[in-house]
Amino acid sequence: MQQISSNLKMQDSARESRRRGQSIALVPTMGFLHEGHLELMRKAREKADLVVVSIFVNPIQFGPNEDLDRYPRDLEGDLAKCRSVGVDIVFTPTPEEVYPEGFQTVVTVTEITKFLCGASRPNHFQGVTTVVSKLFNLTLPDYALFGEKDFQQLAVIRRMVADLHFPIEIIGVPIVRETDGLAMSSRNAYLPPKERAEAPEIYKALKNAGTLFRKGLDDATELCRTVSEQINNSIESDCEIEYIEIHDTNNLTQIKNKISTPATILIAVHLGKTRLIDNLQL
Ligand code: PAF
Repeated sequence: MQQISSNLKMQDSARESRRRGQSIALVPTMGFLHEGHLELMRKAREKADLVVVSIFVNPIQFGPNEDLDRYPRDLEGDLAKCRSVGVDIVFTPTPEEVYPEGFQTVVTVTEITKFLCGASRPNHFQGVTTVVSKLFNLTLPDYALFGEKDFQQLAVIRRMVADLHFPIEIIGVPIVRETDGLAMSSRNAYLPPKERAEAPEIYKALKNAGTLFRKGLDDATELCRTVSEQINNSIESDCEIEYIEIHDTNNLTQIKNKISTPATILIAVHLGKTRLIDNLQL
């Protein structure tokens, strides 16, 4: 396994692989890798000849009062995990390499970034689409894999790839959960023991909404209300629900009344100081 930190070396290496006729799969990450990331890498390994994992904590997708400074990092551990699943190249650029002086170009998906996470994190998705475009240009992938936990991010990236004609197949990979149901996330490391013990209540409430839906409760507002009630009744720690909404799975339009198309329930919760997101296809 090779570790590359320079843009030019990364692009040369990708070009060389393409010249040799090898297909390339990219798994973009911000590091502090967990089983969810490793699952993306395993799927990438099945798809392509060359698997590239990028590890880059992208400063421009964090808001001014967010956790950029304390975002967990463990490069040595991450490299060992990448090696264990057969990654070929780990791309670890520095912020100066990605955003050199004079940088002033961004990529914006205008509409589906305005609600859900975009409502409270105004420049977040612009930061994501900008860095992902750069990573695409630097690693020249045929495939790029993203987790479905960040459901809106996946939809935004699919929109960008379609709108800008990137010749890349985007592959969404189902959420990997801890045994108690909590969706895996690098940010779970922030949770103190009591909050960690309570966090699975979020998924339990979503699952319950799924059960109620299958039993015939098909009013979106009513389903969201039951999730909210269940979470507020089961979590004692400081817990603030940022949103619980149901959206069309394919075009991300919000559904407020009767659910009659494939739909996904999405949630963001602040548990203590930690912001957690999760979702479930109904
Ligand atoms: O999902 C993430 O970890 C990040 O948003 C991504 C896609 C690596 C871009 O920085």
